[in-house]
Amino acid sequence: MAANWAPDSWTNAEARQMPHYPDAAALDAATRQLGSFPPLVFAGEARALTADLARVAEGKAFLLQGGDCAESFAEHSANNIRDTFRVILQMAVVLTFASKLPVVKLGRMAGQFAKPRSADMEQVGDTELPSYRGDIVNDIDFTPEGRVPDPQRMIRAYSQSAATLNLLRAFAQGGYANLAQVHRWTHDFMGRSPWAKKYAETADRIGEALEFMNACGISPETVPQLAQTQFFTSHEALLLRYEQALTRQDSLTGGWYDTSAHFLWIGDRTRFEGSAHVEFLRGIENPIGMKCGPSLEPDALLRMLDTLNPGRVPGRMTLITRYGHDKIEAGLPKLVRAVKREGHPVVWSCDPMHGNVVKAANGYKTRPFERILAEVRGFFAVHRAEGTHAGGIHAEMTGQNVTECTGGAVDVTEQSLADRYHTHCDPRLNASQSIELAFLLAEMLNVEMAERRKAAA
Ligand code: PEP
Ligand code: CO
Repeated sequence: MAANWAPDSWTNAEARQMPHYPDAAALDAATRQLGSFPPLVFAGEARALTADLARVAEGKAFLLQGGDCAESFAEHSANNIRDTFRVILQMAVVLTFASKLPVVKLGRMAGQFAKPRSADMEQVGDTELPSYRGDIVNDIDFTPEGRVPDPQRMIRAYSQSAATLNLLRAFAQGGYANLAQVHRWTHDFMGRSPWAKKYAETADRIGEALEFMNACGISPETVPQLAQTQFFTSHEALLLRYEQALTRQDSLTGGWYDTSAHFLWIGDRTRFEGSAHVEFLRGIENPIGMKCGPSLEPDALLRMLDTLNPGRVPGRMTLITRYGHDKIEAGLPKLVRAVKREGHPVVWSCDPMHGNVVKAANGYKTRPFERILAEVRGFFAVHRAEGTHAGGIHAEMTGQNVTECTGGAVDVTEQSLADRYHTHCDPRLNASQSIELAFLLAEMLNVEMAERRKAAA
């Protein structure tokens, strides 16, 4: 267990990106109530995810992490949850087939509410108000009342997370995740997409493999695992009052777990030395992630790894790199080399979203799909050159047909951004762009695996 740590020891460190609640008594009441609520996940599940991620760190599995930039109260519906879950499963089938590796599925779902902001205040015309920090903190509406941080929002976020997680568990275990069914969706979906031809061969081969298995008597009827899947949840551990209230001591092991999700990560803005967020995360035993942007130097990263994973537990640490398409090939190798040299077991995952935000001429914040792909290519190229495993992808995506990122085979143009721009924060890949990304990732994983087989022969 971490030395000199308690669930509230972060309060003695520098806490950036935290809202100021004007009503201290109301904050106290809300966190006390949260503290009395049941945990959302069980510590044993978090340990199972650590074990799965240890396999990724070893090069024997791949991590797929995806979901909203910010979940919202307004977009909470069964259809949204189902569609995002379905697209993640579709991506996972394509990736599993290409790499012949198990894919660990981790949603940015059921708790991804709090957002870090580059400015504390937002200005519209002559009016200046506190920035929107996610539905768990304040209201996206630009009104003085709406922007006041309200602790009751944490209670609502907890309830929404519980309902979302309940449905995800039902989908994962109740038959919705049936492998043959998931492939049929991709097949039908591709029939309608302009890039179908390019990937038809891969899709047909997946279909053939499933038919072959069926003929051999391996079907969901004979092997129930084929109708089920393991699905984990994650979010940025940003709002520490909320995370602390859901942190509990496991009765089996005595370890502390943040039971708000299976996996928590530290954002790029809160991973500095002396950070309250680092202090909090070092003491919980969930598997954790850390965003690594261009400002992170190798020495600082190594110190961070020593703080967050002193026992060098495989699967504990996932490093989520987010450089930008034009910076990754120059910036990432030095981190990879340092971590490799020091022998820290980590999962390397690629977030090709957060370094590639641009403002369209009409004012919309967007991410050009070709830049997202370029960063993924750069990520694979670096790991290939360094002999490390390109272990995962971290994407902001939705199962809905939104128009938030430009490009893709179903071309979203700058002009069409206004059509269905629904995100509460950053632009997300839509269903079609997400599946297209999975096929491109599959090609790259194929190359990595072929080279590994060659090297082993
Ligand atoms: C995010 O993942 O939504 C995010 C804010 O990322 P980063 O910390 O990498 O900027
Ligand atoms: Co984001």
